[in-house]
Amino acid sequence: MRRPYIAGNWKMNLTPSEGAAYAASLAEAVAKEKPSCRIMIAPSFVSIPAVLEAVKGSDIIVAAQNMADHLAGAYTGEVSGQMLLDLGVKTVILGHSERRQYYGETDEIINSKVLLALSLGMDVVLCVGETLEERKSGNLENVLKRQLEVGLKDVKPEQMEKITIAYEPVWAIGTGETATPEDADAAHKFIRSTVAAIYSSSIAENLVIQYGGSVKAGNVKALMAKENVDGALVGGASLSLEQFLPIITYDK
Ligand code: PGA
Repeated sequence: MRRPYIAGNWKMNLTPSEGAAYAASLAEAVAKEKPSCRIMIAPSFVSIPAVLEAVKGSDIIVAAQNMADHLAGAYTGEVSGQMLLDLGVKTVILGHSERRQYYGETDEIINSKVLLALSLGMDVVLCVGETLEERKSGNLENVLKRQLEVGLKDVKPEQMEKITIAYEPVWAIGTGETATPEDADAAHKFIRSTVAAIYSSSIAENLVIQYGGSVKAGNVKALMAKENVDGALVGGASLSLEQFLPIITYDK
């Protein structure tokens, strides 16, 4: 059985003090409401220490939104996996479309980050997803296949339990446009079958696949009802308790 996994990607929002105050209220709400899903929040690097402190004692996972593709060295402005681990961060989001689009991250760069994170024993949320142009030109499956095959290159079968896939159609991110639950389910099904072809059907069966792209309180239930949708990666609607709490308690 795949346990539902809902994550909030704060992107470049909330200062350390704002993030800590919100995270503390989230931890309090989680203690009260006891959501059944696994919950993760990904603050900016500089907010991580304060947020970790704020959620101490709760089951909320605090993740990073990115990390360097090198272990250490002369890479000005970068943050390494070891630095994250030293703080107590064991999960990292990699390959988000904003990293691909604005910071030139290729599938190859993302793959080296995935391998590095796994070698450090970290859990990875690997983001994949097509642009509107790619979808319209009938290339959805080719794009997903390439992102998975290259992104997971050299990842060993036994490491796949550390991997979560987030399917995020680029055209649905921050636009208010959501893939229909049927579209999301079809893409997730394709992702699962691709992972089955690379690895095995049992690895594919156990793979948690989140949907991301304008997830909010009003659409989470219908998305989560789909067989292949195991969670959500939420951007805008993860920035306040008012919006995020109904999402993580979608099944109550
Ligand atoms: P959104 O972002 O929920 O604001 O569309 C999702 C994401 O990019 O992870």
